[in-house]
Amino acid sequence: MDEIARKTAPEAATPKASRLETGQTSTVRLGQPPSTEAISPEPLYVTTPSLPPLDDFTQLIRGVWDRRLLTNGGPLHQELERALAAYLGLEYVSLFTNGTVALVTALQALQIRGEVITTPFSFVATGHSILWNGLTPVFCDIDPNTLNIDPERLESLVTARTTAIMPVHCYGHPCDTDRIGSLAQRRGLKVIYDAAHAFGVSDSGGSILRHGDLAVLSFHATKVFNTFEGGAIVSGSRAMKTRIDKLKNFGFEDEVSVTEVGINGKMSELHAAVGLCQLARVDRDIHARSEVARQYRQALGELKGLRFIGATTEIRENHSYFPILVMPDFPVGRDEAYSRLRDQGIFARRYFYPLISDFPMYQRHRGTNADLTPVASRVAKQVLCLPMSSELRPTDIDRVCSAIRTIAKC
Ligand SMILES: Cc1ncc(COP(=O)(O)O)c(C=O)c1O
Repeated sequence: MDEIARKTAPEAATPKASRLETGQTSTVRLGQPPSTEAISPEPLYVTTPSLPPLDDFTQLIRGVWDRRLLTNGGPLHQELERALAAYLGLEYVSLFTNGTVALVTALQALQIRGEVITTPFSFVATGHSILWNGLTPVFCDIDPNTLNIDPERLESLVTARTTAIMPVHCYGHPCDTDRIGSLAQRRGLKVIYDAAHAFGVSDSGGSILRHGDLAVLSFHATKVFNTFEGGAIVSGSRAMKTRIDKLKNFGFEDEVSVTEVGINGKMSELHAAVGLCQLARVDRDIHARSEVARQYRQALGELKGLRFIGATTEIRENHSYFPILVMPDFPVGRDEAYSRLRDQGIFARRYFYPLISDFPMYQRHRGTNADLTPVASRVAKQVLCLPMSSELRPTDIDRVCSAIRTIAKC
């Protein structure tokens, strides 16, 4: 197996993320098939959420019952904001009910208008947050090595109507933040990173969430750091945090004044309690994930026609996903590999297929023609995310790898 940008990072102690394809399942078991058909042996889903000991949670929840403060910035919400800021080494964190509302609010906070350049190779919430704000998404092709927005191609898409770029740190692998930052500065554009997958990822300067005007996290059940549902916006100043906090609370300035058209994006005390318990375990989970990644690489490394996607050595990864590309010299195509794994109860997922730009509501926008995004169009047909979680046992990993080896022999 040849690998793209493999270079495993020093196994750090930070969190991760993970998630979806076309439809986000409502259950926590990502990749669960819609049918209830019995599958044997035991199904292996693309991810299994990590959960704290129930007693840790109930202990915190007792306080909620005593105080009767259930939401609206209660003490657990405040404590989680502080704890996350400390963990990430960043000052301004605003918790949200989920990552999608956080993305929608981030665009509002910066008063973005007109066109927003983004990637088609992401979960649909990235594009939807732009459309939901009445803005025009413009799709930029991706870099074949990182699968993130290609900075080479960005500038040619900037028009007089462009006001922002929304890149995604896909799989938690950092975008080329230097080039994106300098282009944005030169052309007077805002940058909002969709960092849904990037909790706990850092480069030599610290958390990658410091890049851009705003960075948005998801704490969905499938993510490395999960609060069942949840999200956050990381901002760069007290004034911006105050604005975001106002927007997520209907636009209330004080008890009697509403000064913005806000939304209800507040995280509840229950979700904040989950977050506090999870934060205590997240480094251990990340380490366990890095071990899973190491074992996959070792077991599949010599197979011809599979390609790993990874971050560079200077990056502290979170191993939120384990994506591989099924290349033309693999004996079967990606879809056949996907189906044959599924027949054995191994629910790998094709993240991200279809491309966002292939969904019907995007058809009239620029960049939706596959000729304009040839790399993304090709990769969407090659990518497969193997089961990845801190809960995977060595026997599970062996099962996945031997199933792939069997497919490779046909
Ligand atoms: C890249 C990306 N952006 C945004 C989101 C939306 O996050 P949430 O599910 O918390 O609304 C997700 C969710 O998985 C995602 O993968």
